[in-house]
Amino acid sequence: HYDTFNIINLMKEKISNRVLNMLRLLGTYGTEFGVPVYVVGGFVRDLLLGVENLDIDLVVEGNGNEFGKYVADQLKIKYLSHEAFGTCSLFFKDGFKLDIATARTEYYEEPAKLPKVEISTIKKDLYRRDFSINAMAIKLNPEKFGLLLDFFGCKKDLDNGIIRALYSLSFVEDPTRILRAIRFEQRFNFKIDENTLDYMERTIENNYLEKVTGTRLREEIEKIIKEKSPINGIKRLGKLKIISHLFPYTYYTPTLENEIIKMFAFYDLLNKENKKYIENTNKFYILLYVILQYTSIDVLEFIRVKYGLPKNFVEKLVDVKNVFNKINKEDIKFSEIYELTKKFNNEQIIFLASKISDKMREHFYKYLKKLSNIKLPLNGKDLKKMGYVRNEIGIKLDELTKIELDK
Ligand code: CTP
Repeated sequence: HYDTFNIINLMKEKISNRVLNMLRLLGTYGTEFGVPVYVVGGFVRDLLLGVENLDIDLVVEGNGNEFGKYVADQLKIKYLSHEAFGTCSLFFKDGFKLDIATARTEYYEEPAKLPKVEISTIKKDLYRRDFSINAMAIKLNPEKFGLLLDFFGCKKDLDNGIIRALYSLSFVEDPTRILRAIRFEQRFNFKIDENTLDYMERTIENNYLEKVTGTRLREEIEKIIKEKSPINGIKRLGKLKIISHLFPYTYYTPTLENEIIKMFAFYDLLNKENKKYIENTNKFYILLYVILQYTSIDVLEFIRVKYGLPKNFVEKLVDVKNVFNKINKEDIKFSEIYELTKKFNNEQIIFLASKISDKMREHFYKYLKKLSNIKLPLNGKDLKKMGYVRNEIGIKLDELTKIELDK
């Protein structure tokens, strides 16, 4: 028993002609090739929510790779196969990309490792997915174009705003789903279902997050902080004690939460008013500076390697910690701030801003504004002409900068 609805009218209303025609064409090719073709996952979820999503995932009941090749031949477009996963990608001439998979039941040899793949039907393929809201498919073959397949009460959960895991071992098999649940919860302002939350908490307590590679965890954390109000996601990570499982011997406290809030606020302020300080910054590094500032040095080195952070990450963190107290004086002159922070990159600047009093932060912001607009009476070239040599030029420019800053 399952629900089917024909949602062709919704598709006509919400999907651009370009994409709708492409979906119809893919369905036609499916019938020619003799396989049922479906669009699945996030695209279907977002269509029902009325949100645009250009990330199209297809599943075929049959050989996805051969079907992909067939389509690529017909359209004379680029085809790339990802052998290990039994999937392929098609690249359209206008830059559009499409992923095609074979309907499959993934089975996991060992929890938290990437799955092995077995061929199966669409229902099983949908059942092994993360949450009910992501487990619907729309059929594309012409005879049934627009048929929504909902085997597990998915649409009802979507309508009620519920994040529900489809089976109790879902998080054990793929602990990154814990972070995905939090991301979707925040993005759509949904609620995690009670049993699902229970499975999540047990998986966290039993140290399954620790089994996942740093690269995969980092990707998920980065996605959380790309969402609109990342602080809500971080608060949830804190409440569920996930922070301590992602970063050993690191604890989420009210003080830390406050500093993270200030960091994001300062980041947003610069992003709005003075983009120069945001260019080339990595928000993930800034967040980690704040979270890891209380963690001991030997543990930090382990975390640095695990998450693929730069070699000088710990050094840069410590350099900022060393100026916390020196800079928190209300009567500090701009030239003194310059002297303390001139070697900092923008990530360190934003981290520092999370550590100072509100009044001081206003002062610091004015300092940054003045520094970014500064015009010196002489530049390096002029000084060279005047006969100064290399390191003298640096010292002289610093001097001139400080004079301008205090004017
Ligand atoms: N999926 C899953 N378990 C994961 C990751 C993905 O079951 N750990 C499934 C879900 O069905 C998901 C689909 O794969 O809808 C595609 O995943 P992805 O592109 O990562 O996410 P989307 O759901 O498309 O979300 P977003 O809008 O963030 O891209």
